[in-house]
Amino acid sequence: MTHDELLDAARKARWYAHAPYSHFQVGAALLTLTGDVITGCNIENATYGLTLCAERVAVFKAVSEGQRHFRAVAIVADTEAPTPPCGACRQILWEFCGDVEVVLGNLEKMTARYQLSELLPLPFDGRSF
Ligand code: THU
Repeated sequence: MTHDELLDAARKARWYAHAPYSHFQVGAALLTLTGDVITGCNIENATYGLTLCAERVAVFKAVSEGQRHFRAVAIVADTEAPTPPCGACRQILWEFCGDVEVVLGNLEKMTARYQLSELLPLPFDGRSF
């Protein structure tokens, strides 16, 4: 699967975003080692604080379906500049995906790519205690 194909999966997932408060729709797509793709969108809540980002929805869906080995995650928003994952999502991605490739894009193109370790240097994880 190419970066563009994974970004397309994130773009499709973004259509299901529930974002009536921020009006900022995000889609995410996780690629497993075996080539499966699990997607997520952001799901907001009237309390604001219970909002889940697209990345965490994708990770929790994947883990709840028995997926544990990931190659890459694509994240898409309608912005010219890359939309990087928030701090909470970086921590959750690290927990389940390790040093995964993070592919960022908008509605037209890929805008950036990182390894998660670049976005979350010196992570706290299960080896930290
Ligand atoms: N959001 C995501 O879903 N992923 C990100 O990487 C950044 C932020 C969502 C959360 C909220 O619904 C909206 O974008 C505005 O913060």
